[in-house]
Amino acid sequence: MEKKLDKQVAIVTGASSGIGTGCAMALADAGATVVINYPFPSTKAAADEVVKSILTTGGKAISYQCDVSKEDEVVKMFGDVVQQLGTVDILINNAGLQKDAKFTEMSLADWNLVIGINLTGQFLCAREAIKEFLRRGDDGKSKSIGKIICMSSVHQIIPWAGHANYAASKGGINMLMKTIAQEFAPQKIRINSIAPGAIQTPINKQAWDTPEHLSNLLKLIPDQRIGQPDDIGRAAVWLASDDSDYVNGATLFVDGGMTLYPRFVDNG
Ligand code: BGC
Repeated sequence: MEKKLDKQVAIVTGASSGIGTGCAMALADAGATVVINYPFPSTKAAADEVVKSILTTGGKAISYQCDVSKEDEVVKMFGDVVQQLGTVDILINNAGLQKDAKFTEMSLADWNLVIGINLTGQFLCAREAIKEFLRRGDDGKSKSIGKIICMSSVHQIIPWAGHANYAASKGGINMLMKTIAQEFAPQKIRINSIAPGAIQTPINKQAWDTPEHLSNLLKLIPDQRIGQPDDIGRAAVWLASDDSDYVNGATLFVDGGMTLYPRFVDNG
């Protein structure tokens, strides 16, 4: 079978769970050597499990700890990966979290935590990835010298009461992505976003953990099913491969139609 990402090295941030794991598995399946980034020592075991399942299916992966909101750690991660694996061809800028609160009760610490990981983390990783793409230049592995996929959310356009920090971080990712896509398109670097809807992962467990919660959630999803990490993984492989060579600065909504605003179907 053709391996679309053969010989390419991908860093997937926040790959020890959820959507990150889904992207890492799909990229490895497409032939990439995948760096499973995880944030804290406590998530090492989960990251190593992902590495193990990739290796068992004949893929290539290593795990690497780094808090993406810390500049020194991000710089070190890119340096170490380049030293160990030769370069970085693909960045899946995925690490993210929610820390929800009513707006008047949202602490500055929780605002800063979410912006720090979701938005500043994407800035730091994208900056280091682009520096490496430019240093290496065209080595014939892909039509682009590098590809970045920013994990956004339907909440880059759907306002979300009780989640101001999260929604602001995702809105910010949209303009960060477009701005750097514009800046680096002439150098053959492609930067796009995926905006997932409700994907069944630990981040939104309270939305699907009981039949009642799930049935409420499905009212927001025209396709009538919750998404799976692999739905995002397959989109990430496409955006990272030359199949999407003419796609740049775009957001691909993978949301089962959530952004069709289904509550308006017989109202409004
Ligand atoms: C959030 C999930 C939520 C989904 C749809 C995602 O970005 O992280 O908690 O279920 O958007 O609302």
